[in-house]
Amino acid sequence: MNITAIVLAAGKGRRFKSKVPKPLAKIRFKPVLIYSLESLCRHPRIRKIIIVANAANFKKILSLIKRYHINKVACVVLGGKRRQDSVSCGLKRIIDDDCDFVLIHDSARPFTDSKIISRVIEKAKKSGCAIAGVPVKATIKKAVSSNSRIVDKTLDRRMLWEIQTPQVFRKDLILSAYKKFKNVPVTDDASLVEKLGRKVSIVLGSYNNIKITTPEDLALAQYISLRK
Ligand code: CTP
Ligand code: MG
Repeated sequence: MNITAIVLAAGKGRRFKSKVPKPLAKIRFKPVLIYSLESLCRHPRIRKIIIVANAANFKKILSLIKRYHINKVACVVLGGKRRQDSVSCGLKRIIDDDCDFVLIHDSARPFTDSKIISRVIEKAKKSGCAIAGVPVKATIKKAVSSNSRIVDKTLDRRMLWEIQTPQVFRKDLILSAYKKFKNVPVTDDASLVEKLGRKVSIVLGSYNNIKITTPEDLALAQYISLRK
């Protein structure tokens, strides 16, 4: 089973509000991006890594992968405006690749470990498509509309999962999902595979597998890295 990973680092990090681009911000002296690259690079199932960068961090990322010996990196490509445009840029490099599965991961999640990666891969091998997630802890209420503050209903928490990356797909599934639906706005890749009518399996991620989005997430990341 041959798996290529696509690691996304082309976002603008607007909510992070820092001069240092989010993938390059440091958690205990090491850039955010390097954490998940090291986990993927060490994982025996991952054959190659494609990094999607932007014009502002491209060169720096090239030098970091050398410095940290991330030797499974096949190429660094430029991304696009939205997350899904960046994924499309990575997927272009997959078309002629001999991989069977594609793993997609946000560089903004540094604490993805080998256990999570293995769980997602093993499930995807059986079902074609698997994603990491954790049971929702909060009470979630749905409003009447996106600009309303009136409660329509309270959702049954036992059925709710907060979805993370990595997400792993059989190559033909993710390529056809992106070919058909790449312009439909989504916030994760599995959403497009769902639109194909395919079943998507959830496996347990981790509450430590946080996404760094706002500045306080970096403080939380420092804390998590101390306990790891
Ligand atoms: N991403 C990307 N290309 C984009 C947008 C996002 O590669 N055009 C990547 C980010 O680099 C990040 C992941 O997708 O690793 C998740 O996105 P998010 O956390 O939203 O990061 P940003 O888009 O950079 O942040 P913001 O939305 O606050 O601008
Ligand atoms: Mg974003």
